[in-house]
Amino acid sequence: MTARIINGREVASKVHQEVAAGVEEYRKLNGGVPGLTAVLIGDDPASHSYVRGKERACEKVGINTDTIRRDASITQEELIGIVEDLNNDPKVHGILVQLPLPEHLDEAGVIHAIDPMKDVDGLHPENAGLLVLGKPRFAPATPLGVQRMLIEENVEMKGARVVIVGRSKLVGMPLALLLLQKGPGANSTVTVCHTGTKDIAAETRRADVLIVAAGMPGTITADMVNAGAVVIDVGISRVDDPTRKHGYRLTGDVEFDRVSEVASAISPVPGGVGPVTIAMLLVNVLHAANLATSH
Ligand code: GUN
Repeated sequence: MTARIINGREVASKVHQEVAAGVEEYRKLNGGVPGLTAVLIGDDPASHSYVRGKERACEKVGINTDTIRRDASITQEELIGIVEDLNNDPKVHGILVQLPLPEHLDEAGVIHAIDPMKDVDGLHPENAGLLVLGKPRFAPATPLGVQRMLIEENVEMKGARVVIVGRSKLVGMPLALLLLQKGPGANSTVTVCHTGTKDIAAETRRADVLIVAAGMPGTITADMVNAGAVVIDVGISRVDDPTRKHGYRLTGDVEFDRVSEVASAISPVPGGVGPVTIAMLLVNVLHAANLATSH
């Protein structure tokens, strides 16, 4: 079997068109346009690259975007001050504090300071709680992106055995919650594997849909995949590659070439989950802007 390649750029482009139409509608009704402000602390190259991607995508669909960049030496109080200013700025509908933050900062404290109605990352305890209760307001963009790719691929999720590798608060945990809920693109039987799992391969081999968000290249080899499974690779790591212009290339968590011979469909890295994640962030920003006008 040679797996179908799930093209994340195509899915993202479809979502961009939907958001652009929504932005136009918003503009007609309200005059202005939705606004996203990202906060980027320190000089992690991957974080800078993600934020640039978010800025470009916003520009494409007509969302106003701004990035506040600060040195890694910023204090917790200064950072919370920035977040509070954004909470009070009516032109800012979505706030995104790029993670990870430098070690000395208290990530949970910063996220808690974000107005939950502007928390387009869906990480504030109020939004995380709403997702647990089956009433999501903002779910994190990566899980939304994975779900959207599965929907676009017409994967039957109802009753599907889904195995997620990784339990992060940004991906694994919220994705498990999303796919457990009743409704389209969900209603699945979900298993979450993590570093405490006794036999990961025994779990992944049972998966109809295998979603890998471990952050470690080579986590999933072909012998760990059920024939005909749908495989979504959320991992994105930089590995040294002197043949490339920048001296590195991006790779996922799945051994793509070998797993492609076993799976029925697979998402590549790059060009898979990444672009769809950014597109779903735009959906959340538009949603935040609409919520702000509806009360
Ligand atoms: N770092 C990697 N992915 C993300 C994300 O989706 N949101 C934020 N805030 N930081 C990230």
